[in-house]
Amino acid sequence: MANAIPVIAIDGPSASGKGTVAQLVATELGFHYLDSGALYRIVALATQQKNIAWDNASEVSAYAKDLHIQFTGDQVYLNNADVSDAIRSEQMGKGASEVAVHASLRAVLLNLQHSFRQAPGLVADGRDMGSVVFPDAPLKIFLTASTEVRAQRRYQQLLGKNQIANYADILLDLQQRDARDQGRAAAPLIMPTDALLLETDNLTISAAVSFILEKYWHKMQK
Ligand code: CDP
Repeated sequence: MANAIPVIAIDGPSASGKGTVAQLVATELGFHYLDSGALYRIVALATQQKNIAWDNASEVSAYAKDLHIQFTGDQVYLNNADVSDAIRSEQMGKGASEVAVHASLRAVLLNLQHSFRQAPGLVADGRDMGSVVFPDAPLKIFLTASTEVRAQRRYQQLLGKNQIANYADILLDLQQRDARDQGRAAAPLIMPTDALLLETDNLTISAAVSFILEKYWHKMQK
């Protein structure tokens, strides 16, 4: 039976701005929000703390089963410890994309992601929200931007946080992350055929949010 609780799936590559856009759409609609990337970041952090290598699929997946993960507003808790800042480092972004290649880990995280689908609706942000996790989502958006624009955004974001940033390093890191996300066998980053492409090189955040809201209202009226 089709699930009556609507999901807006927003997928796309690193630093495309989908996290910001997805959260604003969720706030506008009063929907729940799933930051699925945070789950992979948490697994990267937790396994590192336990000295489990990120490329060890069976140990990473087995350990992930026992983790207690909680989201409260903007805060993220791992086994009751606040890891909101710790998971946001560039290193954990890299670790997340390394553990995310394991099909066994993706299977472990599936039920947890489904549990976010609660009334009145969900905005889910990630790489495989529309393709794998919520294939029946009534609205799927593939939000992207050129690699250069995304590197520029990430660079500004790091400077804004007073972190040392080097544009060339960020660009290279994004290219490697894209290649890993698109090239993996398990749930690669792809644009589902029923998704709408939203190219944001020349689009403000509020224009991207308005586009998605408009498409959503249009779908719901049908
Ligand atoms: O902030 P950024 O877009 O770089 O990363 P994120 O959305 O927090 O995701 C970090 C990594 O987790 C990505 O590079 C992906 O490899 C992985 N990921 C995934 O495989 N599937 C998802 N649904 C979300 C993230």
